[in-house]
Amino acid sequence: YAANDTNYDNFVNCLSENGISKIQASQIVYTPNNSKFTSVLNTYVKNLRFNTSTTPKPAIIVTPLVESHVPAIVLCTKKLGLLLKIRSGGHDYEGLSYVAEDGLKFIILDLFNLRTIDVDIEDETAWVQSGAMLGELYYRIWEKSRVHGFPGGVCPTVGVGGHFSGGGYGNMLRRHGLTVDHIVDARFVDVQGRILDRKSMGEDLFWAIRGGGGASFGVVLAYKINLVRVPEVTTIFRVERFPEDNSTDVLYSWQQIADKIDHDLFMRVLLQPVTGKVKGVKVVRLTFIGMFLGDGNRLMSVMDSEFPELKLKKSDVREMSWIDSVLYWANFANNTAPEALLSRFSSVNFLKRKSDYVQTPISKDGLERIFKKMVELGKPGFAWNPYGGRMSEISSTETPFPHRAGNIFKMQYSVNWNEEGSAAETDYIDQGRKLFSYMTPFVSKNPRSAYLNYRDIDIGTTDYGKNSYDEGKVFGVKYFNNNFDRLVQIKTKVDPGNFFRNEQSIPTLPFLE
Ligand code: FDA
Repeated sequence: YAANDTNYDNFVNCLSENGISKIQASQIVYTPNNSKFTSVLNTYVKNLRFNTSTTPKPAIIVTPLVESHVPAIVLCTKKLGLLLKIRSGGHDYEGLSYVAEDGLKFIILDLFNLRTIDVDIEDETAWVQSGAMLGELYYRIWEKSRVHGFPGGVCPTVGVGGHFSGGGYGNMLRRHGLTVDHIVDARFVDVQGRILDRKSMGEDLFWAIRGGGGASFGVVLAYKINLVRVPEVTTIFRVERFPEDNSTDVLYSWQQIADKIDHDLFMRVLLQPVTGKVKGVKVVRLTFIGMFLGDGNRLMSVMDSEFPELKLKKSDVREMSWIDSVLYWANFANNTAPEALLSRFSSVNFLKRKSDYVQTPISKDGLERIFKKMVELGKPGFAWNPYGGRMSEISSTETPFPHRAGNIFKMQYSVNWNEEGSAAETDYIDQGRKLFSYMTPFVSKNPRSAYLNYRDIDIGTTDYGKNSYDEGKVFGVKYFNNNFDRLVQIKTKVDPGNFFRNEQSIPTLPFLE
């Protein structure tokens, strides 16, 4: 370290006053003077939009090696008046875990070293630290049992800390609900630097960190989860449909059954503008990707009776173990060994995401107009994810995540690009916003709901000032509907000074500010 690295000195001195020796601290504190600073920063940047020379950089990155380091880090960040950003897997679509507004001095608490996973098959539970990735969790479960799994997201590099605290869903959602529906305990560091568990934090705070976003309340160190049973044989399929296959009719029919069909079946549809088969004309391609918790014969009988319009053939479906289905959904090649799920590497591009919920089926005419708009815009695509099943059986107040019964499917808007520069960024983001605006008549209203883990700062932000409650309410009711006010009350109680905050965190009540 260079002489006069005051950020470094002040932080390390404070850590040493709080029980972390200077030698230990030198192994976990990085400032820009450290040659590893940039690689530590960039390893968990999962959106190239926030990896440019103009992206605001932290003053410090700190990478605790054991849970007992975290209380000292929280207390010292507070003492030095820095803004704390908490990062587990770095998949936040708007980079909120590692970027702050220009001019703000901030520190990244990066949890990638805290990634122990203890699976107890007899008990059918596991303790998972926040810095673990979903792929590591699935692998560790599979190592011990071929008939257990966990209903989390499909991308193996997503981090447990952000994913679990923000809701979390994957292709077992219709049978088992969300990730947060299976959390039974947690270890957590609050603003006073105390390590709490479910019992000592109390049921309100424990409720809040199961879908309300961890970063508003404190640092989640680990979650304890209930595992779920998976069959020895699961079945997958992936088929494409184009206008010449009557794709409008097929998608219209999908909306009638996707949330009602056998709960063992999850059928995602991807919509993407592409050059079609006929004379290079642009069309919208539909890709139906199915996950069935059962064998191929049973799947075929469900499809033949409930969704014959898709014309799924026996040759389209493939039986495999649950862990192979995880690899399949993550786009690994056939016969890839499960160890691939332990890789922390993922290819990264520039991206923007948005979300919407659909509560009444869209008419055939509406679908055709949407296809036309997508072709006209050219770039943005959709992933439509069916709800129903277990999701409709759980009350909307059970966890902060409110989007339960009454939602047929959730839409994710997605735009990916590889061109550098602000012109491309403006163009692609603008296309996504235009499609979002076009969709207004087809999606939920009052509020127009959104999914926290599909972070989208277009729907509102707060600068934590005196209007933060009103600002927070704008995006808060979209993410949390009627659960927003309970989150505000809990936040006000556990962190009245609003130390744990970001551009979309839960505000405190106005009179206590
Ligand atoms: P990251 O570290 O960026 O954190 C996200 C947010 O949580 C930030 O606000 C951060 O401060 C906070 N946070 C993180 N760790 C914390 C901790 N320990 N304590 C308190 N706060 C903490 N979602 C889904 O439901 N199903 C899916 O299949 C997918 N698939 C998917 C694929 C890809 C490629 C991406 C980029 C994203 C997804 N997602 C998803 C969205 C994903 O669930 C969401 O981005 C998660 O918040 C990511 O968690 P990370 O820990 O990786 O993010």
